[in-house]
Amino acid sequence: VILVALVAALAGCNWEMRNDARLKPLEPSPVFDDGRSSRPLQPGTVARGQLREDDAFYTGMKDGQPVAEIPVPVDRPLLELGRQKFNVYCSVCHGADGAGGGMVVKRGFPAPPSYHIDRLRRVPIGHFFNVITNGYGVMFPHADRVTQRERWAIAAYIRTLQFSQYAKPADVPAAEMQKLQSTQQ
Ligand code: HEC
Repeated sequence: VILVALVAALAGCNWEMRNDARLKPLEPSPVFDDGRSSRPLQPGTVARGQLREDDAFYTGMKDGQPVAEIPVPVDRPLLELGRQKFNVYCSVCHGADGAGGGMVVKRGFPAPPSYHIDRLRRVPIGHFFNVITNGYGVMFPHADRVTQRERWAIAAYIRTLQFSQYAKPADVPAAEMQKLQSTQQ
C-alpha cells in the first residue's frame, strides 16, 4: 500500500513540475498592458562584457569625425591579420595590391578607386573603418563579416599597401637592405 501511495505521489509531483507557472517564449501574458510576456530591454541596458565605451574603437569616429590615429597598437600580428582578412574579403574587388583590379571587377562589377590615389592616401584611417562597417556607394557593408579588431587590422593593412607603392630605398632598414643587395648579386 505504501509503495502504491508513493508511486502515485511521485507521479503527481512530476505532473505538477511539468506545468509550472512559467511562460514560454513569446507567450501572451495579461500581467503587462501590452499583453507581451517577453519584455523589451530597458534603455541603456548593456549585457555583461559588451560595454562599448570606446567610440573610436567601435565606430572609427570621435566627435563626429573619422579618427586620424588607429586606436589599437600596430604590430606585426595585426598587419598579418589585416593581410589575411583583406585577401579574403576585399582583394576580390580591390585587387591584392589595392589598385582596384580584382577578379570581380574583371568580370564586370564597377571598379573601385585605387587606394593609391592622393585622396585615399590622405584620408584619415577612421574612414577605412567606416567604409568597411557601413559600405560606401555601391560597395556593401562588411560589418557582419569582420569584427572591429579585424576592421582595424584591414585598415592598417591598407596603409601598408599604400606605403608599399611609395616607399623609397631609404625607408628600408639597413639589415634588410643588405639582404636585398646580396640576393641581387
Ligand atoms: C564586391 C566588390 C567589393 C568588395 C568585396 C569590397 N569593395 Fe570596397 N569598394 C568597391 C567599390 C565598387 C567601391 C567604390 C564605391 C563607390 O564609389 O560607389 C569601393 C570603395 C572602397 C573604398 C574607397 C571609399 C572612398 O572614399 O572612395 C575603400 C577604402 C574600400 N572600398 C575598402 C574596402 C575594404 C577594406 C573591403 C574589404 C573588407 C572592401 N572594400 C570590399 C567594391 C568592393
